[in-house]
Amino acid sequence: MNQLELIARLKPETAKIDAAMRQDLASIDSPRLKEVLEYAIFNGGKRIRPLLLILAARLCAPQAEDGPGSGLYRLALAYEYIHAASLLHDDVIDHAESRRGRATANRVWDNTHVILAGDFLHSRAMWLAGSLGGVDCLAALSRATAGMVEAEFLQLANAEEMSRSRERYFAALTGKTGLLIAAACESGAIFAGAGDELRRALAVFGNNLGLTFQIVDDLLDYLGDEGKTGKAVGNDFKEGKMTLPLLLALETATAPDRARLLNWLAAGSAEERRLALPEAREIIDRARGFTTARRQAETLTKEALEALAPFTGRPELSTLKALTAYVLKREK
Ligand code: IPE
Ligand code: IPE
Ligand code: MG
Ligand code: MG
Repeated sequence: MNQLELIARLKPETAKIDAAMRQDLASIDSPRLKEVLEYAIFNGGKRIRPLLLILAARLCAPQAEDGPGSGLYRLALAYEYIHAASLLHDDVIDHAESRRGRATANRVWDNTHVILAGDFLHSRAMWLAGSLGGVDCLAALSRATAGMVEAEFLQLANAEEMSRSRERYFAALTGKTGLLIAAACESGAIFAGAGDELRRALAVFGNNLGLTFQIVDDLLDYLGDEGKTGKAVGNDFKEGKMTLPLLLALETATAPDRARLLNWLAAGSAEERRLALPEAREIIDRARGFTTARRQAETLTKEALEALAPFTGRPELSTLKALTAYVLKREK
């Protein structure tokens, strides 16, 4: 299945996810809360997490129920809500100005509105997961959400201490992105009534796909086209985040190049780093930081696909494989 076929295959699914979300949010009383949520949610997100949940459920039980009003789609919303909440809060934390091609909600309103809207989505998500997926789904989602918070703290510490540890980078990656995508995949299996082995297989798939996803995100932060990603390029370096391309470059760069990078990170202001971005990018490129990071993402993709071995021969597998290839190649 190529990318165009994948898009055609997923379009009806994303339409159903969006319809289910509109239906679910219709009960909100506060007009301002509604406005903030509409702004944050219906603006071109890829819906990767709910899609994965639905595809994982179908992989385990092809008859898994259909339609936006069904439990499956409503359960899937929980994962888009936690994701949307994390982006609302993340854009405050990262001082981000653009998201999905327009001003971040914290610029349109302010931090208070955005934090409260994120809190609403958190509680709504937990309710959906617990009531539709049962205690196992609720546990998976709560674990992922707690892991995200811990990962943000770890990421802060990594930046403050200029940690060059790949282990700490991967720990942050797992918490930020791996756990939630793993929980989405596992929750699909739980909903479909799958046994432990299939649940575990989908969780491993999801975690590796999530790590790939975040490495690609970290690459796009340096190399992406803002017109496509819809968010500012260079924000990670500006914020002093120790992401994989930078970590790898610090390992392999020549002594003068390494000293320049370390100087920007240790002594430079965010504004100085913003101005130094083109030069930093060249240094990372020379040190093969981008190429090596991409190779690691490719390896993780392979590991993700290997985890799907128990599903060999299933027709639904081709969509998940195509989605995995897309995550690696994506430009937005
Ligand atoms: C962006 O996630 C934030 C990360 C976890 C890297 P997505 O790229 O899935 O964001 P949208 O929802 O499609 O905008
Ligand atoms: C996104 O992280 C938020 C979480 C995964 C919790 P980033 O800060 O790395 O992602 P973008 O680049 O803002 O989307
Ligand atoms: Mg962030
Ligand atoms: Mg961010």
